[in-house]
Amino acid sequence: MPDAYTKLRSDTAESRLARLADGFLATQLLYVAAELRLADALADQPRTAAELAEKVGADPGVLRRVLRGLAAEQVLDELPDGRFALAPSGELLREGVPGSLRGPVLARGGLYYGAMAGLLPSALGGGTPFDLVHGMTFFAYLDAHPERSATFQASMTARSAREAAAVVDAYDFRPFRTIVDVGGGKGGLLGAVLEAAPELAGVLFDRPEVVRDAGLPAVGGDFFVEVPAGADAYLLSRVIHDWDDADAVAILRTCRRAMAAWGRLLLVEAVLPDRAADQPAAVRMDLHMLTLLRGRERTTGEFADLLDAAGLELTDVIAADKSTGLHVLEARCPGAALPTPGH
Ligand SMILES: C[S@@+](CC[C@H](N)C(=O)[O-])C[C@H]1O[C@@H](n2cnc3c(N)ncnc32)[C@H](O)[C@@H]1O
Repeated sequence: MPDAYTKLRSDTAESRLARLADGFLATQLLYVAAELRLADALADQPRTAAELAEKVGADPGVLRRVLRGLAAEQVLDELPDGRFALAPSGELLREGVPGSLRGPVLARGGLYYGAMAGLLPSALGGGTPFDLVHGMTFFAYLDAHPERSATFQASMTARSAREAAAVVDAYDFRPFRTIVDVGGGKGGLLGAVLEAAPELAGVLFDRPEVVRDAGLPAVGGDFFVEVPAGADAYLLSRVIHDWDDADAVAILRTCRRAMAAWGRLLLVEAVLPDRAADQPAAVRMDLHMLTLLRGRERTTGEFADLLDAAGLELTDVIAADKSTGLHVLEARCPGAALPTPGH
């Protein structure tokens, strides 16, 4: 007979592994909830499975089991009378609430989920799992599938809204007069930066179809070719991590060419820890990059090397968010005139 401690340990190991192996269930339960807008349908009052099925146009029998799955994961509460209510995590599946994770959930359950089937072939023979599954790169796929592109941008928007507050708290943008947000998506971060530094003039730069209806001054283009020239600061938030070293250096060189001599280049990125367990969120994001793109998260030393290869010098690393490992990495042209522009 195993003693109590051995039994507890093996139960924990077994149940932990079983739960991890069932991760595919959780991803898809959340995805279905987000697609069907179940949380929005439950926002005003708890409902039975039949009422919800009627409201969202779903099969009542299947939906009830999905709702029970979400209750088992404590995303929903199952009330004694059989109705379902939103638990605190479920609230975050609502569209547009502060901290909403509906966008990231849709991207994970739809766009990212299928790509994971390419991980084993990738582990055996190299290559990007997404490309192995879809026969094209992630951004080419987004160009060909506008509805998926919208989901991806919604996910980016939700994340950058969460991160923007942390970035403007951590870094003072007021000394700059002009800033270009390179690969700035829909401009969530740039909007927050301009709010924190009202004197600053900002330009959003991204692929033409992304910036088409941006509510900020915007330029569409390709950051491998050219970005708007002469600004004091070039902000690249979660851009470099999408690319392998050669492409990352190419993007940084484009920015370096465009920068004023006194300019600053600011990377907003999760910095990888030395030991994975010290920053699991950054390690998970590294796996997103591995699966979808030829990208990677990097350590501070790896960022310094990339910047150096692009003719830039890493001068400061400022922690912005401990829970995700997000940092602002400041670089400048070696030997550039000081002090800070605008002063
Ligand atoms: C991971 S998203 C980051 C978005 C935003 N900076 C943020 O922090 O949420 C990367 C961005 O790079 C843009 N992008 C990809 N390839 C590009 C290219 N060749 N030229 C310009 N932008 C590009 C994408 O459209 C996307 O908005």
